[in-house]
Amino acid sequence: MPNEIKKLFDGVFLVNGRLATRNLAKGSKVYNESLISENGTEYRLWNPYRSKLAAAMLKGLRDFEFSEESSILYLGAATGTTVSHVSDIATKGRIYAVEFSERSMRDLIKVCEKRKNILPILEDARYPEKYEADIKNASCDIIYQDVSAREQAEILLSNSRFLKKGGTAYFIIKSQSIDIAKDPDKVYRNTLKSLENEFEVKEKIYLDPYDTLHLFAVLKKK
Ligand SMILES: C[S@@+](CC[C@H](N)C(=O)[O-])C[C@H]1O[C@@H](n2cnc3c(N)ncnc32)[C@H](O)[C@@H]1O
Repeated sequence: MPNEIKKLFDGVFLVNGRLATRNLAKGSKVYNESLISENGTEYRLWNPYRSKLAAAMLKGLRDFEFSEESSILYLGAATGTTVSHVSDIATKGRIYAVEFSERSMRDLIKVCEKRKNILPILEDARYPEKYEADIKNASCDIIYQDVSAREQAEILLSNSRFLKKGGTAYFIIKSQSIDIAKDPDKVYRNTLKSLENEFEVKEKIYLDPYDTLHLFAVLKKK
């Protein structure tokens, strides 16, 4: 039986009903995901329990701005799980992948060896001036931020210099990193309010059952 392939967004597919991207590094896996071949194309299944972007799509994300030519500043790249799928989509674009953990960076570099559209940057996202020179045109289409840090709003604001006007920020808020004792909804509200001079909130997505600790927000730079 042939596999059923449906397009969901640019570069994102449902393969037999499961989320997937086309593998840019044929034959290789990043986090032991399944590979499925159909008509000469290899698809990598995208696990929504491992990637909040995948979870957001399955929870009804409408504004999906990633495309073949996107330039993306990715803050909190970790070992490259989500970055690798973004790399499958932005095949002619560029992903500036910032991560400050040396241990995660070692794994991320292995992912980058097979994917030339990712530039790994071992830096702290709280100090964007340290990687300003790496982001040469200083005008990305997208910022994707998934950092488990207390200063999540401050990090987005200080990195917004790299985002073009009208550009999209996918901003994942982890309430427990900001204030473990406070009601998460209050934390989400206060955090988004602190961004309102610079960003308009377009979508707010709860990621349950894939993830219960985060709010996935879609923002537009004013
Ligand atoms: C939840 S993980 C990211 C998972 C990843 N986005 C994915 O979907 O594959 C959060 C990451 O943010 C990194 N991080 C936290 N604070 C950071 C900072 N100030 N600068 C850079 N990375 C940071 C952590 O080391 C961790 O790897």
